[in-house]
Order: sequence, then C-alpha cells, then structure tokens
Amino acid sequence: MPGKHVVRFEPVGIEIEVGEEQTVLRAAAEQGIMLMHGCKEGQCSSCKSFLLEGDDVELDRYSTFALPDFEREEGFTLLCRAHVYEDVTIELLNYDEDMIRSGLPIQEAVAEVVSKDPVTHDMRRLVLRLPGNAEFKFFPGQYVDIAIPGTNETRSFSMANTSARESGLLEFVIKVYPDGLFSQFLDTKLQAGDQLHVTGPFGVFTLRDAAKTPDAPIVFVGGGAGMAPILCLLRSMAERGISRPAVYYYGARRRHDLCFEAELSSLERALPDFRYVPALSEPGDGDWDGETGLITDVVARHRRDLTGTHAYVCGPPPMVEAAVPLLTRLGVPEKHVYFDKFTFTEETR
Ligand SMILES: Cc1cc2nc3c(=O)[nH]c(=O)nc-3n(C[C@H](O)[C@H](O)[C@H](O)COP(=O)(O)OP(=O)(O)OC[C@H]3O[C@@H](n4cnc5c(N)ncnc54)[C@H](O)[C@@H]3O)c2cc1C
Ligand code: FES
Repeated sequence: MPGKHVVRFEPVGIEIEVGEEQTVLRAAAEQGIMLMHGCKEGQCSSCKSFLLEGDDVELDRYSTFALPDFEREEGFTLLCRAHVYEDVTIELLNYDEDMIRSGLPIQEAVAEVVSKDPVTHDMRRLVLRLPGNAEFKFFPGQYVDIAIPGTNETRSFSMANTSARESGLLEFVIKVYPDGLFSQFLDTKLQAGDQLHVTGPFGVFTLRDAAKTPDAPIVFVGGGAGMAPILCLLRSMAERGISRPAVYYYGARRRHDLCFEAELSSLERALPDFRYVPALSEPGDGDWDGETGLITDVVARHRRDLTGTHAYVCGPPPMVEAAVPLLTRLGVPEKHVYFDKFTFTEETR
C-alpha cells in the first residue's frame, strides 16, 4: 500500500494529506483546496511552487519549458506532476487568498450526449446530461476532464453554461482540429445518446468579486474556443445582475469563425455597461466594417490605460502569452490578470 504524507503550504499555513499515488494538486483539489493551475499536465507552469522543506519528491513527465532543469535543481516543482514520499513544506508562489479554501469536491459522472451542433465551421456546441441524481456543482469559468472512449486519455473542456443545478446539463464549445484525438472523435463519431465520462470541476478562471474593488471594470480577451468560459462568465454576470463596466475583445480569423453573435448582442442589452468587440485578423475583401488585426493589437489600439481594471484572458496559448504582458503593461495589476491557457497534450519529457 502506498503511504501518505503531510504537505504543508506556506504562507497560507494549510496542511493536507497526500497519497504517494496522487499528485499534490489532485490531493489538494479532492480536499477542497483550490491551488493555481492550468493544464494539469506539466506544460503551462501555472502550478509552479517552491520546496521549502523535504526533497523526496518525484515528478511525472513534464515539459522543461514549464520547469527548466536549473529551476528544478534550485527547488522549484510543479504541483500537478509532483508525488511526495515524505512530509514536505511547499511555498505557493501564486495563490488567491479569497479562493484557496473554496474548492468544490471533485466528482466523476457518466453523462449522456444530448446534442452536438456546429456553431462555426470548426467549433461544436456539445451538451451533456448528467445522471438524474448527480448534483454536479461548479463555479462559472471552471472546466471538467472528459475521458476519450477507448483510450487512457482525457481532455479538458470549460463549461459555457453557468450551472447544472436545475437543468442537469453541461454545455461546451469545442474546436475541431484536423488531427485532434478527441475533437475528431466528437465530430465524426459521437452521437446523441452516447455516454462520456467526466471528472471535475477544476480551474480557477472564475469571476472574482474583489471585496476592495467590487466595481472594478473588466476586460475580457478571448480567441477560438476561449469563447466558452468567457461566455459563461458574461452569462453569470447577467444572471447575477453584476453591472461592472466590461468590454469583451474576441479575436477570430475570418467572419465565419465568429460565433454566439446574437447572444453577445443581447448580453450588450442585458448588461448596462458591456460592449462586445469582435476583430478579424484575416477580414478578406468582404463587407466587414469591424475591427481588424490580432486581438492584442486591437486592445492596444483601444486602451491606453487599464489601471484599476481586472482582466480575464482565455484561448490558445500564443494569444494568452501575448495578451498577459500587454495587459500588465497597460496597467492591469498582475494579480488581477486571470487566464486559462488552452494548452494541448503533447510529448512531455
Ligand atoms: C484548462 C483547459 C480548458 C480547456 N477548455 C477547452 C474548451 O472549452 N474548448 C476547447 O475546444 N478546448 C479546450 N481546451 C483544449 C482541449 O483540452 C484540447 O487540448 C483540445 O481540444 C485538443 O484536443 P484533441 O484531442 O482534439 O487534439 P490533440 O489530439 O490533443 O491534438 C492534435 C493536434 O491538434 C492541434 N492542436 C490541438 N490543440 C491545439 C491548440 N490549442 N492550438 C493549436 N493547435 C492545436 C495540434 O496540431 C495537435 O498536435 C482546454 C484546455 C485546457 C488546459
Ligand atoms: S504545469 Fe502544472 S498546471 Fe500546468
């Protein structure tokens, strides 16, 4: 039987028990402790932390982009990959004091496919129904892992709906890649009535009602399927009557890549101070009279000073990596730049 060890997190002073077969991140999530993370696969470095005491720690495969060898030698570690074999103390480099103890229990469920509809030529809206008695709670902006049938692999997908409480439904927006293991399966094989195994919720891309700045303006920056959690946060603002000034900059290549346009227009009417700004990087010679260029260039053109603003960024890794430094340069405090990077599974060392 593998042993269990105590992991203490500083500077928050929280202790949890971690089995040797689990990663520290997973054990924390199961015990309601919400640590910063993104990919859970050793690729994005969001969970990077520092070992203060103890060194009998082994890591599952990870990318040396997320944790270069010299950092590992200095004592840095990736909580999503770390197994501990003795009691250790870990310094969290990045955590949200308001959220750390508010984690929801991780659940597993077998859900049934209700529908799968195109929202663009390469994005699908997938709706799953949870079993009748399952109470599957999540915060708007979180995601679940969906197992790919017939494999040992999972993929992460953010919910676009705000709750499953009354409907029992989970709604996703999923981009189809030509060689995508899950997305091709979704597009070509999955049918209404089929079953999918989901685990979650995970993620910290949730709307922060900062106690000290409850009215802080918000900038959302999205691209591709990053639409899913941002739409979810906007829907949640409308449901909860949150009227913080907000602008959503969404980048797409061409006009036929835009989705949820009608709903975003109606959100502009429902939310008193909300504006949706789509931009096309390849507008072609058509009749597009909206913004053009990369979405980060559009933000830079529109906004000179974002001091006091909170930012939520979600989409493909290059977009997130360009947006985060831009937003901090424009004045968004680093601790108020929240992002989910849609990293994809690739060979890690
Ligand atoms: C926290 C989190 C939340 C996510 N939420 C969503 C979501 O709501 N909707 C959604 O569609 N995806 C989301 N993703 C990404 C998703 O988990 C998968 O990585 C993605 O769907 C590709 O899976 P696949 O099996 O189809 O392709 P894979 O078999 O994993 O990849 C096959 C090939 O497709 C290409 N590819 C895959 N992903 C990308 C990418 N992001 N950019 C460029 N090329 C790529 C690459 O060439 C890759 O080699 C999320 C990821 C994370 C980490
Ligand atoms: S590297 Fe750990 S969550 Fe991405």
